[in-house]
Amino acid sequence: MIVLGIESSCDDTGAAVVNEKKEILGEALESQEEHKQYGGVVPEIAARAHLEHVDEIVELCLKRAKLNINDIDAVAASAGPGLIGGVVVGVMTAKSLALALNKPFIALNHLEGHALCARIAHDVEFPYLLLLVSGGHCQILVVKNVGEYERLGTTIDDAAGEAFDKVAKMLGLGYPGGPMIEKLAAMGDDSRFSLPHPLANSGDCNLSFSGLKTAVRKVIESYAEDGDVAHAILPKQDVNDICACFQKTATECLTAKLERAIKYFKQKYPQGKHVVVSGGVASNTYLRGKLHDLSLRHGLEFAAPPIKFCTDNGVMVAWAGLERFRLGLVSELDFKPRPRWPLDENAPKAAGAGGVKA
Ligand code: KG4
Ligand code: ZN
Repeated sequence: MIVLGIESSCDDTGAAVVNEKKEILGEALESQEEHKQYGGVVPEIAARAHLEHVDEIVELCLKRAKLNINDIDAVAASAGPGLIGGVVVGVMTAKSLALALNKPFIALNHLEGHALCARIAHDVEFPYLLLLVSGGHCQILVVKNVGEYERLGTTIDDAAGEAFDKVAKMLGLGYPGGPMIEKLAAMGDDSRFSLPHPLANSGDCNLSFSGLKTAVRKVIESYAEDGDVAHAILPKQDVNDICACFQKTATECLTAKLERAIKYFKQKYPQGKHVVVSGGVASNTYLRGKLHDLSLRHGLEFAAPPIKFCTDNGVMVAWAGLERFRLGLVSELDFKPRPRWPLDENAPKAAGAGGVKA
């Protein structure tokens, strides 16, 4: 069983072929550089770049796999949520191939790609607790099975990666912000500035990063004579210290809510063994370390996809597509791409409004 997966929901054009033995037969990825100068992803530019590259990325992936397109058993694509122009490009490509080959098409929820990705590299059984932290999403979920999710908490404003990106932008560090903040934080003093932990006492598993971002803004403003972030002049060490304090506080916010979720998970799903982190922010080694310690403290195993599969890529789409395909969960060719698509939309709501009162 061989599945081709295509990713194009944000700023990465990716393709991969995987089989049910968890072998990555081939992969190719083009991360768009065009957005760097804008400090964020420009949807129109992204869509055009996906259109320009998707065919060659699919071809390159098949070439690396030494496979012919006819060897593929099914074609999956991220069909949402995401930037609709890019999503349409991937979905149309996948549908055309499926139609031409007379093979099934799988419209994959991009978040399910992140959610199931750890299973290609590790023996993670259902159910498991998932912290999904990317540029557009920040959720705590129980992954009960393929297509079965219970959402315990979500951000009420910015996603975790978005907060990294906005802080990096204020510090003039470019886009995406996460990798640069992580690098500079390693050289910084994480006790220098005291930053807030929004929603710390909310009594649920929800998260918020907007107040944290505003607190960082205030620190940066204090370096500008006219109080304008754009005019702030910061010594290098102070930038490092701000990065370290922000990374530490954001991590504490995530671990505190995940700890609450762990208690609920252990009670409701006593057979569950794993805590998993995925999504772009999961490439952060500082966060991975803290989540690893937290999981072990609660007697659970910790798993995360290899760092290169945390940010968007074709492998996660191909793998999650294969997981769906082997259960017969394929899609119609008239599936309409979805800019919004909650992972848990068919699930009964968790106890208590806005998440778990664990
Ligand atoms: O999963 P992803 O590639 O795209 C979405 O689906 O959103 O995630 C991209 C996000 C960006 O916000 C980026 O700044 C963040 O992941 N990111 C990181 C790191 N590497 C990427 N955040 C923190 N630390 C990192 N090392
Ligand atoms: Zn993503």
